[in-house]
Amino acid sequence: MLLRRSACAKFILGGEHSVVHRGRAIALPLPSLRLEVAESETPGLRVNGVVRPASDAQKIEELRTLIGRSTETANERNRPPGLDITSEIPLASGLGSSAALCVAMARLVTAREGQELTGAPLAELAWRGESLFHGKSSGVDPWTVALEQALFFRAADHSHRALSLESFRTSGLCFVLESSGRPHSTKEIVEAVGELREKTPLIWEDLIDALSTNAENMARAFESDPAQLGRLINDTHFRLQQLGVSDSGIDTVVGRMKDSGALGAKLTGAGRGGFVLGLFHRADLDAYLDNRPPPADGCSAFVWEL
Ligand code: MEV
Repeated sequence: MLLRRSACAKFILGGEHSVVHRGRAIALPLPSLRLEVAESETPGLRVNGVVRPASDAQKIEELRTLIGRSTETANERNRPPGLDITSEIPLASGLGSSAALCVAMARLVTAREGQELTGAPLAELAWRGESLFHGKSSGVDPWTVALEQALFFRAADHSHRALSLESFRTSGLCFVLESSGRPHSTKEIVEAVGELREKTPLIWEDLIDALSTNAENMARAFESDPAQLGRLINDTHFRLQQLGVSDSGIDTVVGRMKDSGALGAKLTGAGRGGFVLGLFHRADLDAYLDNRPPPADGCSAFVWEL
């Protein structure tokens, strides 16, 4: 029997980068935006129907081995020779395509072993796989994707709690996610932030502390008074600019969102390309989406609302 498993996208509300070093982060799942991996009798790897080179197939094989190592691998030997990956999640965009690949793959590999893994064991397995793509990964992406819950996450021990959604549900607010026009490499940007620590340690410490504190305050605001998120989002973007992970494409979208009534706007994920998020009143949403210029990379905008 041919197996298939999927996983969702995510976005980071606050705490990107600081979470890698010591802090906390808030991330929310995008359950309707998904990536699926499906076994196939046709050998080779296809992504969205396009045959990929042997080097990509090799990387997926490495991922499979990394994930499979901690499970019984006997049945893996009898698995079908090909794999199809179908993804609605823009690649290298900050929306968690690699976490979704790792979670979907962990579901597939363990399902082949006769186990339907969920919760913490699934997240830990996917996290191990994500190291192949991100190098030093905090774990917030695979955990959010594996649990499909809004999480306040602590990297040091992977402790987390699911955020209450009630205040946001009744706030009349929503998040818009829009591409800055170019993809990025999370691994390279995380490494660059690590190098900045060597060059300007005092400034770096201040920024990481401020980002971490903002993430804690965002969790409180999200659960009690979501309109307060606007100020925290703007301050977080300012700190991320100081950290050197914004760019002109991101800042253009941030500016446009704010000019169109967003309460706050910031990059989401690693930065230097990727997606931007804006906090909007639902009443302002249609006007913003109708008037935005066609994106350079053709990516749709996504809306997160409850
Ligand atoms: C990537 O979505 C977020 C980063 O903080 C990296 C990580 O947490 O692993 C930049």
